[in-house]
Amino acid sequence: MFTDFKLMDDRPVSIQVKDYMKRLITKGGLQSNQRLPSTRELSSLLNVSRNTVVMAYSDLEEEGLIYVLKGKGNYVAQAAGSVADAGQRWQVDWKQQMNDHARIAEEQDLMKRGIRSSQGMISFTSIAPDEKLFDIDNFRRAFLDRMSLEGEVLLNYGYAKGYKPLIDYLMHDMENKGVDMAGKDILITNGFTEGLDILLSVLTKNSGRILCENPTHHTAIKNFKLHGFSITGIDMEAGGISLQKLEQALSRERYDLAYLVPSYQNPTGIVMSPEKRRAVIELMSRHQVPILEDGFNEELRYSGAHVAPLIASGGGNSIVYVGSYSKILFPGLRVGWVLADKELIDYLVSVKRARSIHTSTLDQSVLYQYLHNGYFEKYLKRAKSEYKRKYELAVQCCQADIPFRDLSGDGGLHLFLAFENGFDTRQLLNICRERGVIFTPGTIFYTDGGGGNTMRLGFSRVADADIVKGIGIIGQAVKEQM
Ligand SMILES: Cc1ncc(COP(=O)(O)O)c(C=O)c1O
Repeated sequence: MFTDFKLMDDRPVSIQVKDYMKRLITKGGLQSNQRLPSTRELSSLLNVSRNTVVMAYSDLEEEGLIYVLKGKGNYVAQAAGSVADAGQRWQVDWKQQMNDHARIAEEQDLMKRGIRSSQGMISFTSIAPDEKLFDIDNFRRAFLDRMSLEGEVLLNYGYAKGYKPLIDYLMHDMENKGVDMAGKDILITNGFTEGLDILLSVLTKNSGRILCENPTHHTAIKNFKLHGFSITGIDMEAGGISLQKLEQALSRERYDLAYLVPSYQNPTGIVMSPEKRRAVIELMSRHQVPILEDGFNEELRYSGAHVAPLIASGGGNSIVYVGSYSKILFPGLRVGWVLADKELIDYLVSVKRARSIHTSTLDQSVLYQYLHNGYFEKYLKRAKSEYKRKYELAVQCCQADIPFRDLSGDGGLHLFLAFENGFDTRQLLNICRERGVIFTPGTIFYTDGGGGNTMRLGFSRVADADIVKGIGIIGQAVKEQM
């Protein structure tokens, strides 16, 4: 005993000794009422100072794990060991206890079942931002600024609705995007994904059906399934969702919600044309289907005219807009927002409070300070010029090397390629993986199991030389498979 104690460099030694002894006690290595080595003995066994052991023993006593008998020494307390013994015998079969919610989440978990990258591979699977672009210095400044202003408050509980200065900033920003904010309010969420989850959890299932673009964001499909909705996917075409197919679907069935990603859609990268935007709103209002607008990528425009979000073009109070800083800034902060009718937000706030109380105030406040200080505009300019360059390079390489049928992607962080019907991009992936390149086959984005002939190429985190090399390898493999 005491031979496996290993010191770490960067943690106070007395805490390490305390943790080590605590583990021995709680795991049963030291029995109740067993006498512990004296401070002198333990210091020599662990090769630390005697003072360190005195401090460790004092902390263990304070935690009730050991007791002192004057003149005799330190002993393991009674309860410490017996709890560990009792716990060891009871085994629950957790797999048996899982409900459908857990089973669907597990089945649809791409991180577990998706394509794995290994060292040295060129991976086009990610559409996360490139962390090399993050301006850490300005983030640190924002953190210090905010902490010095109201550090104590930020570390206490905050409001379910969100951090007020951030909400005000977003209100102003959305107004600048042309949204009429009268009668609307904002809830801060943990990214887009929590906003979607909360909204789905409050909706009455009148029809139990949701409309969306086909293909669409995999996480959205997963959440629709988790909430028990059936999904009707409407084909995408140049300029956005097919209006003809949308109209057919709307005249056949009733729907509780339509989920749309009008700008730089995932996975197609298509921006819905202004004509389609008008027509979609008109159709939805005629058939009384509220819209959930996902604005996650809106800022990542490299060319073409500015397009306003759907919520800026009317629609009364029937459009719920969910925004996120995950692609345009830092996904690790997990900050997004729901902008919608005040009455709806009021319910969502209560659900948010019941679920997680609120999104981290510290994260929200540092983000606010970063935005307030004007760092975001600077960052976005730099990030956009870098992504634009990569986007153009990726398009150029695809056009030169890959004999695709269609290529889409008007901006954002990815391109979408379709081949002739019958071409199998999963088979293509197998060949490319052996040659050190991976991408996302399109089927996971389809609501109906289709898209076997499609693929998504995320380029944001791929170096220029690898974009050229990787697309060259994919192109060669496509030609061999055709
Ligand atoms: C369509 C779409 N919406 C939203 C998001 C962002 O989600 P979150 O804010 O939860 O990170 C993504 C990320 O990939 C996405 O593809």
